[in-house]
Amino acid sequence: MGAAVHGKTILLIVGGGIAAFKALELVRELRRAGARVLPVLTENGARFVTPLSLGALAGELVRTSLWDLEDEAAMGHIQLSRAADLIVVCPATADLLARAATGQANDLASTLLLATDTPVLMVPAMNVRMWQHAATQRNIATLRDDGITVMMPDDGEMACGEYGPGRLPEVTAIMAEITAQFGPKPLTGRHALVTAGPTHEPIDPVRFIGNHSSGKQGFAIAGALAALGARVTLVAGPVHLATPAGVTRVDVITARDMATACAAALPADIAVMVAAVADWRAETADHKLKKDGGATPAIALVENPDILAGIGHHAQRPALVVGFAAETRDLLANAAAKRARKGADWIIANDVGEGVFGADATHVHFVNQAGSEDWGASPKQAVADRLAHRIARHFSP
Ligand code: CTP
Repeated sequence: MGAAVHGKTILLIVGGGIAAFKALELVRELRRAGARVLPVLTENGARFVTPLSLGALAGELVRTSLWDLEDEAAMGHIQLSRAADLIVVCPATADLLARAATGQANDLASTLLLATDTPVLMVPAMNVRMWQHAATQRNIATLRDDGITVMMPDDGEMACGEYGPGRLPEVTAIMAEITAQFGPKPLTGRHALVTAGPTHEPIDPVRFIGNHSSGKQGFAIAGALAALGARVTLVAGPVHLATPAGVTRVDVITARDMATACAAALPADIAVMVAAVADWRAETADHKLKKDGGATPAIALVENPDILAGIGHHAQRPALVVGFAAETRDLLANAAAKRARKGADWIIANDVGEGVFGADATHVHFVNQAGSEDWGASPKQAVADRLAHRIARHFSP
């Protein structure tokens, strides 16, 4: 596994958390794999591991302060951040994530992160509530938008006695992620088509039929697929969200425009249809409907094309077609029926009775030919990462 790491220089920033001691094990593994490790210890990190043990294992000087003149003479922080092939922050505390996400430069670690264009891998570890807090999730989304890789923490019992996501991943998993940073990504060379957001169907020049879809889930999936190396075309309905790094975005308004944009994006290896497409459009009036004392206007509805079914039964059907199902009852039965009817391989079934629209968290079930898996309640970003990794495994088991 370590071959890709051999001869590489890793700048390792050790933050202040109970998991900091595991960074020592990571140093040992990196050196065993033939990497040079330049260690940086934050002020709080030094409360958990000593510069002496970190420096001895790395076989290098440990840098702790922006103001160490001797270090500045030997190698200033700007050069230091650029001397590395990869910067690894382990453990990445909630505080370090927040400071990196807001571009602060108030200690050596944050300054290095701001002064570099070297790829950065964050390995978070923190209390479960800190991890789940909206502020932390927001910071992680920002960091990912900035092109930084943020690993998912492990689930389990924490040092503080609580239980849930927040534990530092196993050192073998961190090593695998570091190796992956240097190797080809699993979806390199694949083209993924993703739809997201609502569609707006005009009634007249000033009114439309729409829905509450925020686009968050589809945008997160597009970003997660791009992070694994896929070329991603994101066909987005009207939403105000930033385009994830590495994603080509096509903005559309109506279902028919979305269908046309999807067909134009083919061929693709993967299609993930997340958009909440309006099922009906109105026969659009040329002029604004007026009240003018007469009868209430009757809006005649026409059914829209089913974009997922169109792709699922297309002559250029992608090898893997994934749909979503929004249901308020009989979730799994309806999702399985939708999978068959629309020609999808997988369906991510969402119980929208639980107030999913616009929220950051969701509860989904994964449905394929073999049956279903309950993926539990989790942030939409976590669903996106899990789905992207599942897709990667589908292509290289
Ligand atoms: N979908 C689509 N085009 C449509 C309607 C839906 O591509 N015109 C896709 C959605 O992107 C999603 C899936 O179909 O991947 C299921 O959407 P959902 O709203 O749950 O299903 P509907 O087809 O609207 O079925 P129903 O209203 O009967 O639940």
